[in-house]
Amino acid sequence: MALAIRFHEQYQPDHSASLRSESLAGFAAEQKSISPKFFYDRRGSELFEQICQQPEYYPTRTEEMILRLARQQIAELAGRDASLVELGSGASRKVRLLLEALHPSSYLGIDISRDFLLSSTHRLAADYPWLDVHAACADFSQPMQLPEEALGEHPLAFFPGSSIGNFDPQQALAFLRNLHEALPSGAGLLIGVDLVKDSDVLERAYNDQAGVTAAFNLNLIERIRNELDSDIDPARFSHRAFFNKAESRIEMHLVSREAQQVRIEDQYFDFDAGESLHTENSYKYTPASFRDLAGQAGFGAVAMWMDPARLFSVHYLQRE
Ligand code: TRP
Repeated sequence: MALAIRFHEQYQPDHSASLRSESLAGFAAEQKSISPKFFYDRRGSELFEQICQQPEYYPTRTEEMILRLARQQIAELAGRDASLVELGSGASRKVRLLLEALHPSSYLGIDISRDFLLSSTHRLAADYPWLDVHAACADFSQPMQLPEEALGEHPLAFFPGSSIGNFDPQQALAFLRNLHEALPSGAGLLIGVDLVKDSDVLERAYNDQAGVTAAFNLNLIERIRNELDSDIDPARFSHRAFFNKAESRIEMHLVSREAQQVRIEDQYFDFDAGESLHTENSYKYTPASFRDLAGQAGFGAVAMWMDPARLFSVHYLQRE
């Protein structure tokens, strides 16, 4: 039984060092900001799993429905003995929808949250004893080198959850070009992309009633307070998310409830009342605008599926 996973210590970012330098730089900018990759410590990864279960958050269940309906076609496109490589694998939950249909020869989960990655891939290996499971802790916003042993003959990269939308279009293009570099020609890319739609539906998804998205957003401030030498107080910020139509993106911010001064290490930052720290964007595409972006990175369109209400899309692309 393949209960053991193979862990590839290929890229091990020093998260605390980069949280420190990126917070200091982000807080000093005209529009204060911080990279969303810092959301995902263990608690952040757990909160994120809860966001996915909120009734207002349609992307997860819609994407899962699409994958369930399309998985035979996906298996045919990927062919026999594919090696699945999942980017930002998190709880490795969605991939389970594909495993029986696809029967890949190996699975590699890549995530920035090391502990979470290890427990998720161990669970996967226990549940699918026939599967050769690999894990690599990596920040895939950087150029990546995928471990050869996990690539096999027919790699299929899987990037669900519209995580591509958390890059701005320039970064998304750079990411896709990095991925193009890391994959052999002919490799598949199965990618979930959230679609442009009515602002109300979008805004409700990022402002769930239960307040889980707010807690997830505020967890960034908890991290700064706990991991750096800082007096920043989450109670003095509130969650705000809205659709910026001109940019075709949901913006998430943490808004200062009052005028305040925040200390991080030996530096001080002034917030006006109502001033925001920009924490994340979630870009929304049309089927055509995403196909165009992927094409610029050298991925050709093969197939695309949507739900009947056209809330979400899943593209199957091929690396040229
Ligand atoms: N990529 C998904 C999205 O943008 C999931 C996600 C990432 C998300 N960060 C989030 C959802 C923050 C809610 C809040 O929708």
